[in-house]
Amino acid sequence: MRNEILEYFRKANGGYVSGEQISKDLKVSRTAIWKHINVLKERGYIFESSTRKGYRLIYAPDLLTPLEIESVLHTELLGRHIEYYESTTSTNEEAKKIAMQGAEEGTIVVAEEQVTGHGRLSRSFYTPFAKGIWFSVILRPKFFPMEASKCTLMAAVGVCRGIHRLGLPAAGIKWPNDILVNGKKMVGMLSEMSSSMEKIDYIILGIGINTGIKENEFPEEFRETATSFLNEGINVSRKNLLAAVLAELEAEYKLAQTEGFERVLEDWRKLSITLGKEVRVIYSNENYIGKAVDIDKDGCLLVETKEGIQRVLAGDVSIRPVDAPIPQR
Ligand code: BTN
Repeated sequence: MRNEILEYFRKANGGYVSGEQISKDLKVSRTAIWKHINVLKERGYIFESSTRKGYRLIYAPDLLTPLEIESVLHTELLGRHIEYYESTTSTNEEAKKIAMQGAEEGTIVVAEEQVTGHGRLSRSFYTPFAKGIWFSVILRPKFFPMEASKCTLMAAVGVCRGIHRLGLPAAGIKWPNDILVNGKKMVGMLSEMSSSMEKIDYIILGIGINTGIKENEFPEEFRETATSFLNEGINVSRKNLLAAVLAELEAEYKLAQTEGFERVLEDWRKLSITLGKEVRVIYSNENYIGKAVDIDKDGCLLVETKEGIQRVLAGDVSIRPVDAPIPQR
């Protein structure tokens, strides 16, 4: 109902809207309309009211409600259906639930805040209210399940290009799919899949982009290593950023489907900040140093060492610059 009310104000484009008209059209009492407008005010919307003319919307906060997103979205597939939460446990968990119930490809789940946002191995990921874009995309690709890991590389390309569009050309991809700006992590991704031997049922691409978190607001464990648009000097519009990321991701997804992953891998190479660098590859209790020289057709990192080229599989290892401390386990 609130979204329908907001639609009137959006169409009026700053002009007055009569409360009586809305109540007639939507077949609810004027008191009900007034209550909804009060809730919108509590959420940061600012209205001006006139006894004769009705209400006028003066300011809409940068929330990621379906209405706000749809007003700037230009995709054909991704984000055409939106599940929105002010607060939830994790958008990946919500996305999995609805994917299992048959949610259509391209559906996105967005939350202003996640209570248990997480990454791989249940590592926590900080996702405070309206200070980032926390969302999950449901894909149902025709690829074989063994190709699924390349979807993560594809997502990294889409997100990185979206970030470039919104004013941070310094963003680059650290293998396989973290996005760093000036050496600090701005984006984390967690992809999850359900499949049989021969067919993917769904892939959930869970993406978290830090937008408005100040340096001192990050939990201490991330303070040295994480960044956000705000920290990099940009007050970004979250809905414009989400729309740009979805458009770039959709373009890359189409490319993968029509021309195969080789084109996606080429794009990934161009955006990589890992290739050409000395890296330390850390397995559970082993580590070695080498030069990251390329990724192969499966998306594995190729590291040149004294013993020859090592093929590193995403998920097995952690990659760090050689001068970073080795984490104690
Ligand atoms: C990582 O860096 O370890 C991955 C973090 C992934 C975070 C995103 S935020 C939206 C989605 N929901 C989650 O719980 N995780 C992903």
